[in-house]
Amino acid sequence: MKVLVIGSGGREHALVWKLAQSSQIQEMWCAPGNAGIAEELLTSGKKVECVNIGAEDLPNLLAFAQEKRLDLTVVGPDNPLALGIVDLFQLNGQRIWGPNQKAARFEASKGFSQSFMEKYGIPTARAGTFSDASEAKAFAASLGERCVVKADGLALGKGVLLCSSLSEANKAIDEMLVTRAFGNAGAVIVIQEFLEGMEISLHALCDGMTAKLFPTSQDHKRALDGDRGLNTGGMGCYSPAPFLDHTALAEVEKRILSPWLHGCASEGINFHGILYPGIMLTQEGPKVLEFNARFGDPETQVYLTRLENDLVDLLNASVDGGLDRIELKWSPMPSVCVVMASGGYPGSYMKGKPIKGLQQAARLPNVKVFHAGTARVGGEIVANGGRVLGVTAWAKSLAEARNVAYAAVGEIEFDGAHFRHDIAAKALGSASEQVDN
Ligand code: AMP
Ligand code: GLY
Repeated sequence: MKVLVIGSGGREHALVWKLAQSSQIQEMWCAPGNAGIAEELLTSGKKVECVNIGAEDLPNLLAFAQEKRLDLTVVGPDNPLALGIVDLFQLNGQRIWGPNQKAARFEASKGFSQSFMEKYGIPTARAGTFSDASEAKAFAASLGERCVVKADGLALGKGVLLCSSLSEANKAIDEMLVTRAFGNAGAVIVIQEFLEGMEISLHALCDGMTAKLFPTSQDHKRALDGDRGLNTGGMGCYSPAPFLDHTALAEVEKRILSPWLHGCASEGINFHGILYPGIMLTQEGPKVLEFNARFGDPETQVYLTRLENDLVDLLNASVDGGLDRIELKWSPMPSVCVVMASGGYPGSYMKGKPIKGLQQAARLPNVKVFHAGTARVGGEIVANGGRVLGVTAWAKSLAEARNVAYAAVGEIEFDGAHFRHDIAAKALGSASEQVDN
């Protein structure tokens, strides 16, 4: 097969790495990719090339797929899905994996998701959807001191404001609805009650009829240890997350996935791809904070280092149907991914810092260093984005996987690099599990 992967982050590197292990693929491209993806050619022996087409440049992506006569295009990020890349490719007879524009609304419109959840009885936060600031403020006041104000549309992961007082909530509402700090993405807002609890990530692969749940994982959204600092795209992840046992997971299937599938069928939504619900484990049970319509980043890095199936078989079934006949197989070895970011991220940060120690880290057993914001400049690989690397390790126990991941992080250096020291610490019991390197 000839395959194109769209995107340039750690998620896409993990997808390319896993796809390159399939005997069904002969040639692979990634648009636009990164320095690590370009290097997969050397390690996998497969023909893997990066092409300089942006993930949102739909006409040129289509032209590339047509020119190369691709068998499959795999979409990583949310934006091209929200722009309707799947619909465009299908109209032009090109095979593509990911939800169409209607199905991608689960991520592209929080208001849509919220009303869908309410209509089909999916447990979520108490919420309202508003375009009028004074109505929004009255609702926020009815929730008490704390609430969460969310831009309806995609806002580069920045459109969620956690408010711990009414004046903060009023300011957030004005920023979105009046001064339009998030442009059109914030012309409509969702206000949710503030949910307390442990947050986990779920993924389910869907083929329009069937949804197959992955094991649990836990991302670490805040920039600093102890869940302090600003929200980021994700500073590290591990799987499995031990907070839901088999019985609780079966309950999640029953209370969240089944009504979601039923709702999709009733609304004529044909969802092919990954549904990624963000879940809060509250005292009243698991509640959905939001839906994403794609693989998570860095969730993908830990899932794909545990997946034992040929990913091509799963993507083919997700596109064509037949997932009910496939059993997902997972390695029992836990996997841990520590994200190394540029100094200053998620605020402004320096680019172009040379990265040292990548080869030493890669030599450690059961370690894979996935690249996100990296570029090759001359003979060197340099940091070229906020999240730079996803250093991933797997082992017999979570504690060991975590130690190996941090040992690999310890081999890597670049000016201003920062990472969290407490990835997976919640699962292991306490802050004393922190690693000091
Ligand atoms: P979202 O993009 O909607 O998942 O929100 C980003 C982050 O904000 C989540 O990962 C949570 O940590 C937090 N968050 C979102 N909604 C809520 C809520 N209703 N209560 C508490 N925290 C929330
Ligand atoms: N792990 C966060 C995200 O992919 O949105």
